[in-house]
Amino acid sequence: MISRQTIDRILDTARIEEVVGDYVTLKKRGGNYLGLCPFHNEKSPSFTVTPSKGIYKCFGCGVAGNAVGFLMAHDQLTYPDALRQLAMRYQIEVEEDHRAGDDPRFQAEKSQRDRLWDLMTFAHQYYQKMLWDHPRGVAVGLSYFRERGLTDESIRHYGLGYSLEESDALARMASDSGFTTEELELAGLCSTHESRGLYDRFRGRVLFPIYHLNGKVLGFGGRTLKTDRKEAKYINSPETPLYRKSETLFGLHQARKAMTQNNHAYLVEGYMDVISLYQAGVPHVVASSGTALTQEQARLLKRFVSEVTLIYDGDSAGIKAALRGIDLLLENELNLRVVALPPNEDPDSLAQRMQGSDLTEWLKSNSQDFMDFQQNLLLKEAGQDPILRSQALQVVAASIACVRDPLLQATYVQRLAQDAGLPAQAVQEAVTRHTHQRAKQSLEQRSAQRDGHSPAEIPADRPSLPEAAHQAPTQGLNDIPQESEILRILVQSGTMEGLDGRPMVEFLADTLHELQWDHPACGQLLEECVHRWQTDRRLPDIKELVQHPDPSIASLTSSWLDKDHRVSPNWDRMHDIPVRDPSENLSREFEEAFHRLLHKKVLQLHRTKIQELKESPEPEALLHQIRELKETETMLAKKLGMVITH
Ligand code: UTP
Ligand code: MN
Repeated sequence: MISRQTIDRILDTARIEEVVGDYVTLKKRGGNYLGLCPFHNEKSPSFTVTPSKGIYKCFGCGVAGNAVGFLMAHDQLTYPDALRQLAMRYQIEVEEDHRAGDDPRFQAEKSQRDRLWDLMTFAHQYYQKMLWDHPRGVAVGLSYFRERGLTDESIRHYGLGYSLEESDALARMASDSGFTTEELELAGLCSTHESRGLYDRFRGRVLFPIYHLNGKVLGFGGRTLKTDRKEAKYINSPETPLYRKSETLFGLHQARKAMTQNNHAYLVEGYMDVISLYQAGVPHVVASSGTALTQEQARLLKRFVSEVTLIYDGDSAGIKAALRGIDLLLENELNLRVVALPPNEDPDSLAQRMQGSDLTEWLKSNSQDFMDFQQNLLLKEAGQDPILRSQALQVVAASIACVRDPLLQATYVQRLAQDAGLPAQAVQEAVTRHTHQRAKQSLEQRSAQRDGHSPAEIPADRPSLPEAAHQAPTQGLNDIPQESEILRILVQSGTMEGLDGRPMVEFLADTLHELQWDHPACGQLLEECVHRWQTDRRLPDIKELVQHPDPSIASLTSSWLDKDHRVSPNWDRMHDIPVRDPSENLSREFEEAFHRLLHKKVLQLHRTKIQELKESPEPEALLHQIRELKETETMLAKKLGMVITH
């Protein structure tokens, strides 16, 4: 259990813009920062970070919270793990307090996910130890990496490891440390064989750990050291509760900072390509690791950069892979260049020949715009054959259709027309046809998803907004506008007069103390307000609340961040909106918010009673209650000016 003092120190020290900035590219806007929300898919930034309050809020999907809440939501960490991560980042010593044991937030058993994270960390440390310390690891694994030209620094930077040839070396070590067979299998590290029992997936291989953005290891790619062709060159972790291949980019954890700084990333195919480029002075490089680039990976890139350069092997498989990735990257509004390497060359071999500015200069001058790349490749191949030429042009037109910026798209249309010697209108028509086709496809995909097809079956769009919000721990908190509104008014103005002439906080203490809140944070917040009022004659400050140790309260109160921050201060004047007397406004606002909450609760109760009625042996009394509830509901609805439908 982390002590209260440590929690406070962490909350005081963590800078929200730094914590969020590790994951989201933020641009300064006045005193705030603005970026693309990592919790839902958006094209124009509505994700705001407010350093003065220590909070973030997305005006698109409503998620909000402080630094701890951000890590919990983003990396799916538990509360204590998020605190520990912040402590690590800010080098704060974590004091354990054993009396904190009655705090329910800490009582929950470590979830299975947390156990798997621990197991992966354990395995990673073990494999690294084998590489650096075990005689076999040094003789075989380490010397392999060194022979391939990697420096010790690079080997450590990417956390490379080695697994012994024995069939259960890891399994035994992990079992001794308390991990179960089931966990080893679930993490994709071991399998059970009928006669041989539990055995390690990676044996006698050098290992490339695959990191999550948060710096923890999710999986491994293991390269064989044998030269015979019978064995697969690479064995990779399977899909596990932690590792989803299609959502992961190899090297992203290491490359993230350099990517944000350069607003640019190189995308390559292989593990070795990434590490060699890094070592040669190109740190902003990631790999899609053996899969064709996916939608999720393209989106992930977009979060950090707006320009991507594909570097693909000059062989035909490499070129095909490059062609496949182009449309996805364009669709995600990434500016795209391609480096086609000469045959028999890959980024790794290139980086062995050339380093530093020589390499970056070479890459710059040998990269071409995606359209030049496609044209050079496809049109050249087609020669003068009209059918092949038109097929090639269709491929280019389909890619141009993925460019979302209309001006940019028009420019490409013009250029293609010029290069191909065709009327611009013909090219435009081809592009438009592809645009319509794409729109139709994406509609079909969406309705297929709604009809209950598993999203995995289709190259699906990212989950729609409510689903995305659903995954964050603020779930529920976004869906209780009535509760949120009354509490917001309470915190901001609760000492002022309420409906009956008493301070609002006293009025609410009496009227709401038995309310069934839809989220426990609401009841707790009211209780804290009432308590503070009774002891200090004041209410908790919003600045304290957004850093509240209960992440739900922090999240709820953060969501109250000034809603009008994007409206120009002259808006009222420009639109000639009369400015009302603020105190008159406030009591009206309070009354309305209170009635809205009551209305919602009465409706809920009404629904419950009707449900009970169906099962009740004595419906008389219930019927009476239901009638009364209905009357109250109608009265409240009228007050609120709602349209009543029966
Ligand atoms: P490469 O064959 O180009 O591998 O495959 P590489 O990384 O350059 O390795 P070296 O240079 O031969 O040592 C590119 C990527 O495809 C995936 C791996 O992620 C690899 O890095 N791959 C390849 C597999 O997953 N399985 C395989 O059998 C081969
Ligand atoms: Mn290679």
